[in-house]
Amino acid sequence: MQETQQSKSKQCFPSRQASSKMVHRQEAIPLMTPYKFSQFELSHRVVLAPLTRCRSYGNVPQPHGAVYYSQRATRGGLLIAEATGVSATAQGYPETPGIWTREQVEAWKPIVDAVHRKGALFFCQIWHVGRVSTKELQPERQAPISSTDKEISLNPVLGIACSKPRRLLTEEIPGIVDDFRSAARNAIEAGFDGVEINGAHGYLLEQFMKDGANDRTDEYGGSLENRCRFAVEVINAIVHEVGANRVGIRLSPFMDLMDCTDSDPMALGSYMIQELNKHEGLLYCHMVEPRMAIVDGHSHITHRLLPFRKAFTGTFIAAGGYDREEGNNVVAEGYTDLVAYGRLFLANPDLPKRFLLDASLNKYERSTFYTQDPVLGYTDYPFLEDKSNDN
Ligand SMILES: Cc1cc2nc3c(=O)[nH]c(=O)nc-3n(C[C@H](O)[C@H](O)[C@H](O)COP(=O)(O)O)c2cc1C
Repeated sequence: MQETQQSKSKQCFPSRQASSKMVHRQEAIPLMTPYKFSQFELSHRVVLAPLTRCRSYGNVPQPHGAVYYSQRATRGGLLIAEATGVSATAQGYPETPGIWTREQVEAWKPIVDAVHRKGALFFCQIWHVGRVSTKELQPERQAPISSTDKEISLNPVLGIACSKPRRLLTEEIPGIVDDFRSAARNAIEAGFDGVEINGAHGYLLEQFMKDGANDRTDEYGGSLENRCRFAVEVINAIVHEVGANRVGIRLSPFMDLMDCTDSDPMALGSYMIQELNKHEGLLYCHMVEPRMAIVDGHSHITHRLLPFRKAFTGTFIAAGGYDREEGNNVVAEGYTDLVAYGRLFLANPDLPKRFLLDASLNKYERSTFYTQDPVLGYTDYPFLEDKSNDN
């Protein structure tokens, strides 16, 4: 079936080398070329970025999740699920899914099946928010846990205050590593093709990694090696549990979300890549671009991930601010293998098809990003009316 899609693309879309007269909107755009990594074959490079959607009531994935994800699934596409909690203390947003209980694993299964029936690959992003939480979201209204007891004033995503965290004791850390390991095992049991470790955006792993947040004096604080120790232990445990070829990680060394800053992001990113490369066949590294720079009044992706892409031996995914043109450019240039799209994919369930046809895009509605309605701003974004080209 995958070959059908690929050969269909090839037939319809003449090569980039075709004469300029032939090059029109049916050109074989780089984003729509196939890609093979490890045991997986993709028919295109437009990846669904992980997107927290707050519609998993009681932290249990819901049947409407199957509608949402299968809307975005294409034959030979790659979807990354929304951040999914590894334990009861992992939650920082209302109604986000988990994967630490039997009920949650069972609830994920029909969603994963629905995606697989459409022929797509599906990775589960697993996370722990650490201090980006409130007592109300924690078991028995305990303080959220972190690398530190320094609180952040506000979760800027939700616009709500966070509670003062409790610094994890050194001897508690192996237990959290084990939560990640067991969540990865559960994800594979639920049918996911692999897991993406959320080591980005100011959540627990970054609270350890970045020197602006980590003020520990034990072996998990201080030097770069010490600060990365927790993340490295999580990676090692998960690789050991499910195999390197089912493991990806998301990193955002340049971002400063949730007050997580680092004085030397290049060194941090390079160190993490070096650790990832120790696992032969580790599947992918997914990196988020620095915040956009404004050049001549326009926002520009600064493309500072190239050294990491060059150093990493696996598949590279870039994300953050990409559109069709920028995505095509970076794939054509070899800056990345795959491009993950967040807001555009959220608002355009048939984004790969729209890119293929160079069709217009629906606008995303920010006000419904984190609301809890099972349809509104979730599964009600329109598809292209033209039904002649199926996904
Ligand atoms: C509603 C929303 C939810 C998000 N949830 C997550 C998440 O669960 N995990 C994550 O790593 N990033 C998350 N992100 C970040 C996106 O994956 C992506 O990196 C970001 O939107 C930038 O890419 P874009 O310009 O293509 O939207 C979220 C972004 C949005 C808008």
